[in-house]
Amino acid sequence: MDLSDMKIPQHVAIIMDGNGRWAKKRMMPRNMGHIQGAKTVEQICEDADSLGIKYLTVYAFSTENWNRPDGEVSAIMKLLRNYLKDCIKRANSNNMKVRVIGERSRLSDDIRQKIEQLEEASKNNTGLNFTIALNYGSRDEIVRAVRRLVKDCKDGLEDMENITEEMFSSYLDTAGIPDPDLLIRTSGEERLSNYLMWQLAYTEFYFSDVLWPDFDKKELIRAIEKFNGRERRYGGVGEE
Ligand code: FPP
Repeated sequence: MDLSDMKIPQHVAIIMDGNGRWAKKRMMPRNMGHIQGAKTVEQICEDADSLGIKYLTVYAFSTENWNRPDGEVSAIMKLLRNYLKDCIKRANSNNMKVRVIGERSRLSDDIRQKIEQLEEASKNNTGLNFTIALNYGSRDEIVRAVRRLVKDCKDGLEDMENITEEMFSSYLDTAGIPDPDLLIRTSGEERLSNYLMWQLAYTEFYFSDVLWPDFDKKELIRAIEKFNGRERRYGGVGEE
């Protein structure tokens, strides 16, 4: 299929899986897989933008990932620290607007500060909307949203009678970001792993056997081709 004939999904969400196996295959420590995975993130942001994708959301660290060995958690945090710092420069040269979703209080002060700086520095950029899910879990996000909404109702700022799906969405971390059109999970796993469960209600899923550090533009185009072959009916019957 010619790229120019393809419908490009507005929002692509990715579960980046397989860093550990990528490293193991090369007899390297797992952390090398994460380092390579972070490089892939940088490249995919550029590729997504060049293909006309407007929103890209990646799962960098889940609420469950704290259960990994301490050494691995601190290595990922160190990687994220460096990534967030570099990202300020990159976001401005690529015109990328960066947001971070997830629960921040468990992150260290300096990481929280870097996130704030990055969001502030890139907020007026008009290119790719890049969202990083960090200490993110869908159930946690929904519970936090419910708590805030209940509080606003108690305080008289919202009326329980006015709660709609759309209004509830505005309480989620992803407020203002359209729901993903396409979800990609790499490394052959076919699970949602507590990722964007509310937002993925009508999303097309694409599972790739490629390990995340090997994921590239060719693979992204393959996922978009598959997406083009599907008819989205949103629960209706579609065209005859
Ligand atoms: C899954 O691979 C990957 C992670 C839990 C971490 C993802 C982190 C990165 C790609 C790097 C940092 C992110 C950004 C945004 C720069 P795995 O370790 O579960 O792999 P395995 O299933 O093969 O063990």
